[in-house]
Amino acid sequence: MINMGGFVVAIDGPAGAGKTTLARGLAKRLGFDYLDTGAMYRAITLKLLRMGVIGEPTQWLDCLDGVRLEVSTDPDRFWIRLDGEDVTDRIRSKEVDRYVSQVSAEPQIREWMKRRQRELADEKRIVCEGRDMTTVVFPDAELKIYLDASLKERARRRLEQLKQLGISATMDEIIKNIRFRDRYDSTRPVAPLSKADDAIVIDNTTLSIEAEIEIAAREVMKRLGG
Ligand code: DC
Repeated sequence: MINMGGFVVAIDGPAGAGKTTLARGLAKRLGFDYLDTGAMYRAITLKLLRMGVIGEPTQWLDCLDGVRLEVSTDPDRFWIRLDGEDVTDRIRSKEVDRYVSQVSAEPQIREWMKRRQRELADEKRIVCEGRDMTTVVFPDAELKIYLDASLKERARRRLEQLKQLGISATMDEIIKNIRFRDRYDSTRPVAPLSKADDAIVIDNTTLSIEAEIEIAAREVMKRLGG
């Protein structure tokens, strides 16, 4: 049984839907912890790229033997460390973007992650975001949210995010990458992105950040009996 004393808010949705913004904002508002599971898949992808085995899926699991992956669950100060090195910004590179879907489609990698994600959330009040939070990792989450937005809006946000990191990209390139990832993430045989039957849907294409946090916070309060 997961989270006997805790409360899990599980958030899934496609690339660029704004899961991180909602998850962090909601966690801050409620005083909950926060877990960015996409960042964990990105960090592992970076590791495999660095080891030069990205084209050799059969070697991936062996390469993860002994890897140190540490991730902050503090919504005010997010960081992720790979073998002791802070890779918070590096995991957003275009190269990681390009391979992360393939790495995260590998069943053994997903099993490895699921164990760590459940450990990280154990007994906490926490907001967890990803692609399979509501369906696989936390099927008993107290609140499940499927967050969505139009493709164009998602691409616009991603472009902005890259700009802030000093990475240049075109809108066409980003739309192509998001389309590719959407298709890959939703059609992979293991833990595909899908909406859980009991998830509430929030489409934030035209919603402000404050408004979506408010909607989600109210759902939490309802379930906490407040
Ligand atoms: O949310 P993001 O773009 O940082 O996620 C990066 C990739 O990781 C995305 O292409 C899908 C994958 N992912 C996943 O398969 N399962 C998760 N729980 C989180 C992310």
